[in-house]
Amino acid sequence: MSSTDLLLGMTFGTSGNPFLAPYDEVISVNTRGGVLLRDGKIAEVGEADDLRARHPDARVTDYGGHLICPGFIDAHVHYPQTAIIASWGKQLIDWLNTYTFPEEMRLSDPEFARQTAEGYLDLSLGHGTTTVASYCTIHPHSVDAFFEAALARGLRAVAGKTCMDRNAPPDLQDTAQSAYDDSKALIEKWHGRGRLGYAITPRFSPTSTPEQLSALGALWAEHPDCLMQTHLSEQPAEVDWVKGLFPQARDYLDTYEAHGLLGARGVYGHAIHLETRETDRIAGAGAALVHCPTSNTFIGSGMMDVAGLAARGIPLGMATDTGGGSSFSMLRTMAATYEIAQLRGTALHPAQLLWLATAGSARSLHLDDHIGRIAPGLEADLTVLDLASTPAIAQRHARAEGIWEAVFPTLMMGDDRAIADVWTGGMRRSER
Ligand code: GUN
Ligand code: ZN
Repeated sequence: MSSTDLLLGMTFGTSGNPFLAPYDEVISVNTRGGVLLRDGKIAEVGEADDLRARHPDARVTDYGGHLICPGFIDAHVHYPQTAIIASWGKQLIDWLNTYTFPEEMRLSDPEFARQTAEGYLDLSLGHGTTTVASYCTIHPHSVDAFFEAALARGLRAVAGKTCMDRNAPPDLQDTAQSAYDDSKALIEKWHGRGRLGYAITPRFSPTSTPEQLSALGALWAEHPDCLMQTHLSEQPAEVDWVKGLFPQARDYLDTYEAHGLLGARGVYGHAIHLETRETDRIAGAGAALVHCPTSNTFIGSGMMDVAGLAARGIPLGMATDTGGGSSFSMLRTMAATYEIAQLRGTALHPAQLLWLATAGSARSLHLDDHIGRIAPGLEADLTVLDLASTPAIAQRHARAEGIWEAVFPTLMMGDDRAIADVWTGGMRRSER
């Protein structure tokens, strides 16, 4: 008989999108809830006392006043950039040339790629993130390194070989044909293995020729169940550069659209400086956008219109964008999301912030049937938050009136010290 775990504590419940319905109709916190785990899945969700009485043989872990959340889902990261996080003083194009490309070249060494992937996933798990969608480097072995490390940790994960055939150092360039061939071979090797999924990954239009974008568009048409991830309209200087490189294009999105790279399983990072046609086309295609707020402030990119885009029903994910982002923590990312929305005149509710980091990100990656909510049948990936993890947070938490006031200080001030526990695929991290 397989073992059954019963987790008790406060539980975060999600039944809908809090940007399209009042948050209190679709998000709830049960202050004495329980989650029953069996065979790597969530078997039951309910009241603590009831579950305990009905499952006397289950192994009980009582988290008391901690908040049991779906594991955090970081919808856009670059694991190869782990070691260059917090590099000073550059905006996007200079930052890529000065810090990013030299570091990505180091992953030509498979052993360094393996160490980086393992180190990254351990850091990320330590911050309560149970799934990431990562860019790799142009080296196919950088994808193997990442997926092997994810498999060893029992994680659901998404990744793809970053493709670039221009405007990058020669040692970091592939070709239209090799990008197609290598990506195809990696799809056949990894897509659908365990809990792993492949994302076809042109880095962004400036580093791909039209021929490479077309080749990857053709590959996506042959593998429509794969995701396609890329960057879109992150900085004004980048948008101008794209206009110069693609004089025929109507706008930045059109450089993807014209090459078969716009679709419902497309996941576009940043999307800050959008024109009306671009937003309309994204909404029409059902494509997803990913908000990377600590990156957008750190690299000086701008402020995404989260509330406006979400209100249009565009699937939105949330991400650290390591190492352009300045933190591995989705809690820090929620805080930055709140602060940017405030600067744009909207106060996002804590329920909306937690939703973006869990169910919202899951939906953006088309993984919402598997992860992102605490519901029977979904995979048992859970992050347990200590809502009083530091003296500064604890003294504010002590004054809280109501559940959301108890949660909000941790979203604003929390980091890895707030991560009381992490479960992936039904296993407690410390017991793996
Ligand atoms: N645009 C193209 N590549 C990158 C990258 O690695 N990080 C960020 N933030 N933006 C990009
Ligand atoms: Zn990125």
